[in-house]
Amino acid sequence: MKGLILFSIVVACGFVENVVSYNNQFPYRTIINFGDSLSDTGNSATNEPFKADSPYGSTYFKHPAGRMSNGRLIIDFIVKAYGLPYLPAYLNLTKGQHVKQGVNFAYSGATALDKSFFDKRGLNVPAAAYALNTQLDWFHKIKPSLCTGKEDCANFFKNSLVLVGEIGGNDINAIIPHKNVTEIREFVPDIIKAITNMTSTLISEGVVELAIPGNFPIGCNTYVLNTVNSDKKEDYDEFGCLRNYNAAIKYYNDQLKTAIDELRHKNPHVNIIYFNYYSAARRLFEKPEQYGFKGKPDTFKACCGKGGRYNLNEVCGFGDSVICDAPVKHINWDGFHFTEAGYRSVAQGLLEGPYATPPLKTPPFKIPKE
Ligand SMILES: *[C@@H]1O[C@H](CO)[C@@H](O)[C@H](O)[C@H]1NC(C)=O
Ligand SMILES: *[C@@H]1O[C@H](CO)[C@@H](O)[C@H](O)[C@H]1NC(C)=O
Ligand SMILES: *[C@@H]1O[C@H](CO)[C@@H](O)[C@H](O)[C@H]1NC(C)=O
Repeated sequence: MKGLILFSIVVACGFVENVVSYNNQFPYRTIINFGDSLSDTGNSATNEPFKADSPYGSTYFKHPAGRMSNGRLIIDFIVKAYGLPYLPAYLNLTKGQHVKQGVNFAYSGATALDKSFFDKRGLNVPAAAYALNTQLDWFHKIKPSLCTGKEDCANFFKNSLVLVGEIGGNDINAIIPHKNVTEIREFVPDIIKAITNMTSTLISEGVVELAIPGNFPIGCNTYVLNTVNSDKKEDYDEFGCLRNYNAAIKYYNDQLKTAIDELRHKNPHVNIIYFNYYSAARRLFEKPEQYGFKGKPDTFKACCGKGGRYNLNEVCGFGDSVICDAPVKHINWDGFHFTEAGYRSVAQGLLEGPYATPPLKTPPFKIPKE
């Protein structure tokens, strides 16, 4: 035990200059993550011929790091704030690798719903092969190296935080090109069901502390803005986001919150935290300058890409695409994903409030400024 704690402190101290009481037990000994590209730290990169190659990772890691951004993701800021190492990607584990401090099952492009759901509706979504149920299978494979037996697992999960998501964004992305927003809403109950089903399974296996993020405001997403490319003023709100799409996401998040309340009611011994990604991200588009980002007309422009209204005529990592001068001043990295700076702001909103409900346990370390 002592060795474990010391290891955490050494890792974390190189990271932030915060004062820590050495007597304090860190709030979480383990963080386990399920999700998609918003939190994939190397699964799809290990498995796919092209994923997150250069210039991904270039700003912070200085090399591709299996992440769909120029640097760290929300999950990276979270684990470090709790003094834990970056989460190893499940598919990239080496035999016997230590996973007791955490492991990541998130896979870029993954959906909440199984591939068969999309196949039945004539939608080709390859990464749906890595949907929540697949990630749950992976979890089951590795579980014996985390804990064995009811009592041992109860003890283990008492000090663990399990994140289910963000997931569901790709389910909606898969539907967007084919459906209008009214029809998108019809899929929402199925997506939510997949998330709550997964969560219930985890709870039945001993998990007692979870965080479930809602969805980002996709009406403010550079890829969606570029795809819809509407010339109608009335389609946009005062900040330049697509009204309909954000309304659909609000509906989605409301449904998710209701489902979480039901889970809380059914499992009073479990702490389920809701991460309000919607508001934590949306404030950046509403007051970009206040958070250190470029204002109009660059607020929605991807940092990596080339040409066009949103700098997306050429896709990041392909053709003549280039990186912007100051990634730290851009919210969006490649159309779909945020820059590290964007993710840092969201992570701050979760760890320091007010976008986690109920709040997370007080993190022993502050999010670094650089
Ligand atoms: C896989 O793990 C090795 C270390 O074991 C690391 O160097 C490499 O960056 C990882 N790759 C990905 C894609 O996460
Ligand atoms: C969405 O599509 C459905 C089916 O094609 C149609 O009945 C409905 O009027 C459309 N709604 C909007 C808001 O365009
Ligand atoms: C619910 O979870 C179980 C595993 O616990 C899985 O077999 C089943 O397919 C899931 N149902 C849905 C709708 O995802």
